[in-house]
Amino acid sequence: MEDHKKRVLISTEDIAQEVARLGREIHDFYNGKPLYILALLRGSFIFCADLVRAIDLPCRIGFMTTASYGHAEHSSGNVEVVTDIPDNIEGAEVLVVDDIIDTGYTMRFVLQHVLNKGAASVRCCSLLDKPSRRKVDHLVPDFCGFTIEDVFVVGYGLNYGDYYRNVPYIFNFEELPEEI
Ligand code: IMP
Ligand code: MG
Repeated sequence: MEDHKKRVLISTEDIAQEVARLGREIHDFYNGKPLYILALLRGSFIFCADLVRAIDLPCRIGFMTTASYGHAEHSSGNVEVVTDIPDNIEGAEVLVVDDIIDTGYTMRFVLQHVLNKGAASVRCCSLLDKPSRRKVDHLVPDFCGFTIEDVFVVGYGLNYGDYYRNVPYIFNFEELPEEI
């Protein structure tokens, strides 16, 4: 599993710089209002942990897990809640945080789910965006770190076959390992 060549796409330093910039942008946008940050598990756990420390606002933080049928590389429009939002978010300003927006099915579903629960507003922040893969209309992250090409990326929370989430930078494989 360690033999496959990794091509570093975004270094640890570049991620840290961008996360700090996103934190300032979010701070300035919400202008002192309390926020409810909803992190989508598992992919966003590292990004969100870094991001919340860069946001100088009163924040509640909750986690939600969704699943979509099919494999991550071929996600479908059928998204379901595995673990729901643990708090009352009625009237809250909600910011949904994810690692990557790919087809957009997951984010579209979660944004609607948050509105259904009575949030005052809902916006989204994604570390990565792959707009060329989008399958849903008009979904642009309100706060976005890096726009990337259509490559399968791993590390900094993003997995391949349950592994590599702990790698502290974002990379892709020169050749995707078949078995890990
Ligand atoms: P969606 O296709 O926008 O619904 O994205 C669903 C999920 O697929 C994301 O939250 C990621 O967990 C996963 N995903 C999409 N692209 C990649 C990738 O390049 N690497 C790792 N996971 C990915
Ligand atoms: Mg995910």
